[in-house]
This record gives sequence, structure tokens and C-alpha cells, in this order.
Amino acid sequence: MKQPSLKNDLLLRTIRGEKTERTPVWLMRQAGRILPEYRAVRAKLSGFVELVKNPERAAEVTIQPVDILGVDAAIIFSDILVIPEAMGLPYDMVESRGPVFPRTVSSQADIDRLKVADISDDLAYTPEAIKIVKKGLDGRVPLIGFAGAPWTIFAYMVEGSGSKTFSKARAMLYRQPTLSRQLLGMITESTIRYLKAQIADGADVVQIFDSWAGILPPVHFEQFSLPYIQQICEAITEVPITVFAKGAYANLTEIGQLNCATVGIDWNTEISHARSVISPDKTLQGNLDPAALYADFDQIRQDTRQMLDAFGSHHHIANLGHGVYPDISPDHVRCFIDTVKEYSANKRSKLL
Ligand code: CP3
Repeated sequence: MKQPSLKNDLLLRTIRGEKTERTPVWLMRQAGRILPEYRAVRAKLSGFVELVKNPERAAEVTIQPVDILGVDAAIIFSDILVIPEAMGLPYDMVESRGPVFPRTVSSQADIDRLKVADISDDLAYTPEAIKIVKKGLDGRVPLIGFAGAPWTIFAYMVEGSGSKTFSKARAMLYRQPTLSRQLLGMITESTIRYLKAQIADGADVVQIFDSWAGILPPVHFEQFSLPYIQQICEAITEVPITVFAKGAYANLTEIGQLNCATVGIDWNTEISHARSVISPDKTLQGNLDPAALYADFDQIRQDTRQMLDAFGSHHHIANLGHGVYPDISPDHVRCFIDTVKEYSANKRSKLL
């Protein structure tokens, strides 16, 4: 499909390492959660899963943060858990509890009942939503597609819900490593197909969320997470990839060696450390503490400027260190976004 050229391509130029007039900014989990306009759309439908599967409405809430908050990128409204569902393991989103899988995976027989996702049959709604978003955005900002990393998806499929320890999922790695690899392989193949479908319909960048990387010991991250992320990075050659592996501090060097353009870092990661272990031709994304947005406006401005100074002028996409918390006021989010725009533009104009 022929795409209109982008009016604001700051994010893409920053990923390519070009010197830009200011730092681009967006927020993980910006679509949904914090905006009353999102809740109004969601209230018209029976629930979260129905919204994810409704391309028109999903497109609407994807564009909301661009209009309301002024971010430099949209991220498609969906969820990482659409992959297990397309593989044959459906989920529910239970109010104030989060995702719940009525069936989970614990044996070879369970895996034999699953399949590698067929995107056009089982997951066409997200690429369909992407087409609508691209029309609605009309080239205003780039669109980010996404998927969960295989380990994080595996963790939900085995555990059946969120968990502090994911002990069932981690037990499986110790007790049934071969079976674990089989499932991780099926998730990886499904994810590659899914990301390629998102790209075919217009995603300009894709991000891999390894939200539960940090509960693995480094040696297990190297065995059960990294190789599968690597397979995805090697298979996706069409657009730049961002890898965000939350909490994988011990493995930051290896993450920096992946075939990806951008590495997301969380707020526990020292920015200077990330810069020192990750090749300078990679862009970093992050990493303000999401809780910093609970502070008053002056404090938010101060913390944001400090973060921008620590990253330096180039190869940086401003973001939080994880998704924005649901009870943060949109005004505080806007203060963060406006500060990034103003302060980085000001600094840049002085350097020119
Ligand atoms: O970034 C965006 O705004 C795009 C949309 C998006 C959602 N989920 C929508 C959503 C993205 C990128 C995700 C990713 C996701 N989903 C991750 C990885 C990112 C991360 O935060 O670590 C994970 C682990 C999930 C699984 C998931 N989905 C959980 C644990 C929950 C419940 C708690 C919560 O609100 O995060 C969800 C539900 C979910 N996904 C909501 C939204 C807007 C809230 C549901 C609602 O509207 O009631």
C-alpha cells in the first residue's frame, strides 16, 4: 500500500541516528488507561477483548493520544495476549485483576492442542485496525506495531494470569526445558508472522515487550528469552525494531548486540551504564520513572530535563521506563511531553 509521506518523522530520523531538531517523545501504554476519552469508547463495548477485536474502535483509541497529548508516535491499540489466543489459548481481561486464561499449558498434550497462529484467520483484526489508523493519521506521525517477547507470552500461557513470581512458568524452564523450547519456538513463529502482517499494513516501527525478562536469572534469560528475540530481530528486516526487556540489567550488553535499532531501558537502569555497554549507533528509549508523573509540574519538569541531559542530544527517544500508570492525570503526562519538546528544542538550537 502506498503510504503518504510523514509530516512528523522525528522518531524515524532519530532511530536512523540523524541529528534532529528535538527529541521525539511517546509513552508506553499511552493508548488507553489514562484518557477519559478512552474509557468512554470502552464503555460502549462489552469489554477490553471486544475493543481489541473491533478495528474501527481500536483505531479510534490509537489516535486519541496523538490528538489529545501531542505525542510524536502512535502505538496500535491491542494487547500482547492476542498471540496466545490466536494459538488456541483464549484469555479474559478481568476488571481489577488483569488477564486470566481459563486453560493453561503444562504438558506435551496441551502444546499439541495449540498451533502456530494463522494471522489472516485468527488475528486479522489488528492489521485491519492498522490500515484504519494509517488513514486517520494521514502521515501526521509514525505508527508503532508491537508484540510480546516469547518468554513473556510463555509466562502468561503457563501461569494463566499475572503473578509476582511466575513460579509455574519458571518451574517449567527447570523441569521441562525441551517442552519449554518447543512452546517458545511456536510463539516465536507466530510472533514473526504477526509482526510481518502489522508491517505489511503500515506499522513503521515495531517494539518487542519483554515485560517479565527481569524475573529470569541471567543464564535463563540467555537460554530462554534472548535467542527467541534474536530470531524475531533477524526475521524482521522491513522496519526498525525496538527491544524493551524490563529488568534484564545483567544482559544489557547482549541486548545491545541484537539486530535491533533501538533498546528500551527501564528506570532502574543507569543511563550512563546503558550508553557505555550499548553500541553508540543504537538509539536508546526511556526511561523516566513512571511514578515521577505523580509529582507536581515543577518537579516533573526538573526530572524530565535531568533525564534529557543524561541521555544527550541524539540517539534518544524520550519515554517512561515502563507503561504509564492508570491513575496518572493526563495534565501531568502533557507536562512531561511539553517539557521534552521545549527543553530539547531549546538545547538543540543553542548547539547549532
Ligand atoms: O502502549 C499502548 O498504549 C498500546 C496498547 C497496549 C495494551 N497492552 C493495551 C491494554 C500495549 C502495548 C499492551 C502491552 C501489554 N499487555 C504488556 C507489555 C507492556 C507492559 O506494560 O509490560 C503486558 C504485560 C500486557 C498484558 C496485560 N494487558 C495486563 C497485565 C493487563 C492488565 C493491567 C493493565 O492495565 O495493564 C492488560 C490490560 C490492558 N492492555 C489494558 C490496556 C489499555 C487495560 C484494560 C482496560 O482497558 O481495562
